[in-house]
Amino acid sequence: MSNTWNPDVYLRYEAYRARPALDLIAQIPLDVVGPIVDLGCGPGNVTRALKEHWPERDVMGVDLSPDMLTKARDKYGDTDVQWQQGDIATWQASSPQALVFSNAALHWVTDHAAVVPRLADMIVPGGWLAFQIPVTEQSAYQKCIRATVTSDRWADQLADVWMYKDPMGPEAFYDLLAPSCDPIDVWVTDYHHVLEGDNPVFDWIIGTGLTPYLSVLNEADQAAFKADYSEQVASAYPKQTDGKTLFLMKRIFVLAQKR
Ligand SMILES: C[S@@+](CC[C@H](N)C(=O)[O-])C[C@H]1O[C@@H](n2cnc3c(N)ncnc32)[C@H](O)[C@@H]1O
Repeated sequence: MSNTWNPDVYLRYEAYRARPALDLIAQIPLDVVGPIVDLGCGPGNVTRALKEHWPERDVMGVDLSPDMLTKARDKYGDTDVQWQQGDIATWQASSPQALVFSNAALHWVTDHAAVVPRLADMIVPGGWLAFQIPVTEQSAYQKCIRATVTSDRWADQLADVWMYKDPMGPEAFYDLLAPSCDPIDVWVTDYHHVLEGDNPVFDWIIGTGLTPYLSVLNEADQAAFKADYSEQVASAYPKQTDGKTLFLMKRIFVLAQKR
């Protein structure tokens, strides 16, 4: 799955994708000494924003995808930010962190009940865990993914492939972190991105949500799958009167201070 991430396709909506990360960074009152890690850092633009926000800190971006890390290194260098290949599910910090941060990546990891407290364990007392996860199981674009994947044309090849599921809700995240963190701030925000173009939701989703399916298909089938999905998702997002498309993304934010 990791090899199918295409940094250039992903970066097509860079400003919109970075917006929740910047909103989260703005809420973090970081005042203890220690390094910062950005888990699932992708092409590195958010990691770079963390470094710019806290220039004195050691900052590291961790991602599973070699292509994403190559893009991050090419764009931002390998000097004042470190890049490391790793899987969030098993990654272990080599020293205690002041901030463990993750934007739009934890939904690719299952078993949050085990992973999230483990991330909190890597943080110094007074440090912060801060993450944002999309909550999109009921969104039109996810319904279109499920409809396409389970259609007669694709079910045999794709039925067993990973399928997005919503993360746990605010109450469950709170209970998960309450033994090790206080205060815990959880909020959910609807972003209505204003997208331009003929089928912009499709353009957005091929950079993220379609990657698990495209990764198991050959080139011809990838094209056919994209065509099927493109048709479905275009009709699910009618245009506004000015021809633009409103794309709703619901996102949950968790910001917790280690005791
Ligand atoms: C939607 S992108 C988010 C990138 C970046 N955080 C941002 O805000 O732009 C998700 C990233 O998570 C990475 N990823 C997916 N599963 C992962 C895992 N188990 N461990 C580490 N990275 C993972 C992908 O390679 C991809 O770069």
